[in-house]
Amino acid sequence: MNNTAIQTDNLVKTIPQAGRELQILRGVSLTIGAGESVAITGTSGSGKSTLLGLLAGLDLPTSGTVQLFGQKLDGLDEDQRAKLRLGRVGFVFQSFHLLENLTALENVMLPLELLPQVADPAARATEALAKVGLAERLSHFPTQLSGGEQQRVALARAFVTQPQILFADEPTGNLDRATGHEISDLLFALQEQSHTTLVLVTHDDTLAARCQTHYRLEDGVLV
Ligand SMILES: Nc1ncnc2c1ncn2[C@@H]1O[C@H](COP(=O)(O)OP(=O)(O)OP(=O)(O)O)[C@@H](O)[C@H]1O
Ligand SMILES: [Mg+2]
Repeated sequence: MNNTAIQTDNLVKTIPQAGRELQILRGVSLTIGAGESVAITGTSGSGKSTLLGLLAGLDLPTSGTVQLFGQKLDGLDEDQRAKLRLGRVGFVFQSFHLLENLTALENVMLPLELLPQVADPAARATEALAKVGLAERLSHFPTQLSGGEQQRVALARAFVTQPQILFADEPTGNLDRATGHEISDLLFALQEQSHTTLVLVTHDDTLAARCQTHYRLEDGVLV
């Protein structure tokens, strides 16, 4: 029985920049339990998105290790890492990242269609959209939706596979205060319902305070 969702050991990320090494992360070690909610804050450019990308296996560290679901990512190639994430990891971004030429329903169906043997993806996607209050917007394209509605679609898409981990990078960053509140309420409600591990990057300390654990990134280390 393994109750650890994510574990990192001494993660370092440096980027070669004009002949020099730009140090972004200088040794990040953390353990995130299954079902835990974790906020990561820090000033702009402190490396929050970089860290999230490493935890999700979207990017590889310069040194150090990441384990996702007890599996070390450093021995895996990109396809193997994608396979490990498939159906088990969801993402929500500041800029929604919906596919413009697909309707709300089609956007939410997409992750289900990548999984083998999902019975009736349309019905499940419809249900997910109803949960975020968009039952009446199934055939709207992203350009026909408000920012808050687009982020609701993104939440439905992220949760439709019932992922074990959800990574959210500034999910309220492009929204006004009131809409941002609605989206964070929805995010925490969905997280609680599905017992998802949440790793949330935000500038917003009130949002961060809603998580069980709060880290700050300062000078490339967690405090
Ligand atoms: N591919 C890259 N090449 C060069 N520098 C990069 C690259 N990616 C990130 N950086 C630099 O690494 C630092 C951390 O970037 P990152 O996007 O992780 O910051 P952040 O904390 O998410 O900031 P923000 O709050 O503005 O989103 C920044 O100084 C950025 O310029
Ligand atoms: Mg960022």
